[in-house]
Amino acid sequence: MTTQEEQTRSGLRFPAGFAWGAATSAYQIEGAVAEDGRGTSIWDTFTKTPGKVLNGHHADVAIDHYHRYREDVAIMAELGLSAYRFSVSWPRIQPDGSGRINQKGLDFYRRLCDELREHAIDPWLTLYHWDLPQALEDEGGWPNRDTAYRFAEYAAAVHDALQDYVHTWSTVNEPWCAAFLGYASGEHAPGRREPENAIRGAHHLNLAHGLSVQAMNARRVGGCVNLYAVTPETDSERDLDAARRIDGLQNRFFLDAMLLGRYPEDVLADLPVEPDFIQPGDMKTINAPLDVLLVNYYSRFTVSGAPGGKQSAAAAPTDSGSPWVGSEHVSFVNGGRPVTAMGWEIDEGGLVEILTRVARDYPPIPMVVSENGAAFDDVLDDGRVHDRERQAYVEAHLGACKEAIDAGVPLEGYFAWSLMDNFEWAWGYGKRFGIVRVDFETQERVLKDSAHWYSEIIRQNRRHEPTDS
Ligand code: FCB
Repeated sequence: MTTQEEQTRSGLRFPAGFAWGAATSAYQIEGAVAEDGRGTSIWDTFTKTPGKVLNGHHADVAIDHYHRYREDVAIMAELGLSAYRFSVSWPRIQPDGSGRINQKGLDFYRRLCDELREHAIDPWLTLYHWDLPQALEDEGGWPNRDTAYRFAEYAAAVHDALQDYVHTWSTVNEPWCAAFLGYASGEHAPGRREPENAIRGAHHLNLAHGLSVQAMNARRVGGCVNLYAVTPETDSERDLDAARRIDGLQNRFFLDAMLLGRYPEDVLADLPVEPDFIQPGDMKTINAPLDVLLVNYYSRFTVSGAPGGKQSAAAAPTDSGSPWVGSEHVSFVNGGRPVTAMGWEIDEGGLVEILTRVARDYPPIPMVVSENGAAFDDVLDDGRVHDRERQAYVEAHLGACKEAIDAGVPLEGYFAWSLMDNFEWAWGYGKRFGIVRVDFETQERVLKDSAHWYSEIIRQNRRHEPTDS
């Protein structure tokens, strides 16, 4: 028996039917920003604004997935993936943000889904991974309540066209990032630094989630959150309060709204704004029944209430403010763990913690880890990438998934972030998260060692599945 088989048999053996996936998002990979009638998104505008993205990088071409999707699906098939999570570019479907539907945009995703299905890979479609049509930003963006209603219309149009193709629908990827990096810290598009509007935006993103779930009435639909384990630096009252605040803004503001239909009282009390934007019926809408919760997990925060420290866990690449509206005084301290190339601390125990917590504190809901992975400074060595650190990261976090399942968590899948190196937002092409390397000049794809390893784990697990599954 090889070491890998032993590993699978002992530690990394997962239940039959477990979704073995990888994830990407539209703006990060597609390119073709002016093709087939696509409109402008806030990321097109942001990347062209000097000083917003490291080295002035943009994603006009990105990794050319729009033209190379067949090759990319073939790579997924070679890896043995059973599921692929991607996002739809809203401005491809509605170039003006509302009204007119661009058939050519829908056709692209239909072709992609067809290709996936031909390779027995389940399409997991995310409706919003941060590329808001610029036309809607011009009318106020997410702080404008109307945007949530426009989103529901967009969702219904995509659902109408693709309902027979998609395995699992999900609404908004990581509403925390879209609201607080987009409208408070300004690190992400549209780059506004308006803390009170960031809160309004967060509520409207939640509302957009609920309204779109209702509008689609999809066979299988989920919401997506990015959760962090949060630890106080000490047991002092000040640090415990800091941890409560950051956990509140990052995790509970979204989980409680989506799964319990209310905002946590303590978080509302911390905010510098009256919650008069919450209208009657909103919380019930946001609490629309879901089939699955998509959890993105990367790291743990260690926080202190002592002011004057770092305003986030890792340095931002560009000049930006604090995303922690109402809790700007909280400091992020070094928890003493090894870090990735993003400066994010590696802590697989945090994944067990958050998964078991959701299972314990919220109504029962199946979950998947919908993003997990790490950037490292890869070296191309004679056509290979020996990315042992990334492999170790994925292995440790798959171990955490297994531990959570053994503890009774209904975890039904794992998606590596990312399938391929791509445009990493404010970091441009400076950070590589892929298990597949992409040469950004030639667009050549090469499986990294982590991809070969992941593929072997998948094969070992799928060997035990009934063939008709
Ligand atoms: C997540 C995003 C994804 C990628 C990873 C590294 O927050 O959803 O697009 O940037 O982080």
